[in-house]
Amino acid sequence: MSQMQWDLVVRGARTVHDGGTGVCDVAVVDGLVAEIGENLAGEAIEDVDGRGKLLLPGGIDPHVHFENPSWDTATAHDFGIGTEAAALGGTTTIIDFAYQAPGEPAGEAVTRRRTVADPKVVTDYALHGTVTDPSFESVETLPGLPSVGSTSVKIFMAYSIAGLMVDDAQLLAAMEQVKKFDGIMLVHAENDSIVEHCRHHHVSVGDVQASAHARSRPVIAEVEAIRRVLTFAEEVGCRVYIVHLSTSEGLDAIKEARARGVQVHTETCPHYLSFDASVLDGEAGPRYVMSPPLRSKFDSDALWAGLADGSIEALGSDDAAYVLSDKDRAVNDFRDIPNGVPGAQVRTSVAFSFGYRTGRLSLERYVELVSTNPAKLFGLYPRKGHIAVGVDADLALWDEDIPWRGDLDSIHTNIGYTCYENVEFVGKPVDVWSRGRRVVRDGLLAADRGSGQYLDRGPSVRP
Ligand code: URP
Ligand code: ZN
Ligand code: ZN
Repeated sequence: MSQMQWDLVVRGARTVHDGGTGVCDVAVVDGLVAEIGENLAGEAIEDVDGRGKLLLPGGIDPHVHFENPSWDTATAHDFGIGTEAAALGGTTTIIDFAYQAPGEPAGEAVTRRRTVADPKVVTDYALHGTVTDPSFESVETLPGLPSVGSTSVKIFMAYSIAGLMVDDAQLLAAMEQVKKFDGIMLVHAENDSIVEHCRHHHVSVGDVQASAHARSRPVIAEVEAIRRVLTFAEEVGCRVYIVHLSTSEGLDAIKEARARGVQVHTETCPHYLSFDASVLDGEAGPRYVMSPPLRSKFDSDALWAGLADGSIEALGSDDAAYVLSDKDRAVNDFRDIPNGVPGAQVRTSVAFSFGYRTGRLSLERYVELVSTNPAKLFGLYPRKGHIAVGVDADLALWDEDIPWRGDLDSIHTNIGYTCYENVEFVGKPVDVWSRGRRVVRDGLLAADRGSGQYLDRGPSVRP
């Protein structure tokens, strides 16, 4: 019998796959996983020695904002740099947002956004429909999304000053439309009235430094909005996903709603797991401004516990990177600091170093959080999010012992800073493949811009 001929085989790595976790070989043909087994007999064009390393499914980041016009500027990570950063962290799929222009149907915004992303992406990608024209006419266009491959919709309960906020009636109307196509609604949950009241108060007493941004968006703003949207979801029967969860109380509200049958899912982000609000007091405070803001150590610990017990199902980077001159321009008025921080590269490393390597997360839970669950929630499973015969060969080979430090040499960015300066990580993806195609070799980028693909998504499945 002739020898099997593969495009790629990774041999002898400890692998998390559908059959369990153990040492095996994984062979790839035509971008798909072709065989999994011990000591596979065959030859490959690329034969990789994975012994002593970990082979994991490529990560799926369900929440990034690349080259996103916002404030009076735009996020600086474009689809090229952003997906390269993601790939260096072992992430092989990102999901960004298609903001509507006023009057633009949601599906057309997706098609338009693809023309921006397609020439640049080095990983595969998908797009959430996004209600940024919060009118009833606009909301009625949401059922057009599945025909352009999008089965999820983001809405904002805050940011009235930017014209993004849906009111309660529009929120209900949007939920009714999303339910029609059995989609999932992503919710930025902050009570806008509370935020506006607090912003006004802090400015009026001269409390205008970066740290006042956090004081102006108190815990109650997140918790009230979560409780309200979950009351609506219960009434309408719409599946919701609370993005960038930052508080322990918010998590409690989600657990309570889930216990009474509400279809609610949630993510948190690497920054809420890595920092507390005290970093806002320093000179670098503006660089840590995002919404919802950084909270207390108590909240951070509760979020780690939620990741470990499965009540938080996913990790999204919420990468919204602004150049230093944008972040530092408003030291005397927090309202002018563009909200958002980078995170596409470190999303996996925060969970790997400070979750898996410290024993807070099992290896299997780590994989669920950064890959399998986002794939299931956003209609990419079973094609992506796990290693099994027949699925896309999105693979990340990790050396779990490499120590590295966050700085502008180790983190791929064009913004002139990293929130993770001098943070000590352990473990790094050394080789990464997207559909069997090299994107990282020996820890360095090896991908051509435009080589990623747009992904048509199916329905959301419960993790
Ligand atoms: O401050 C943040 N999170 N900026 C990105 C946009 C959003 O609200 O997710
Ligand atoms: Zn948001
Ligand atoms: Zn976001």
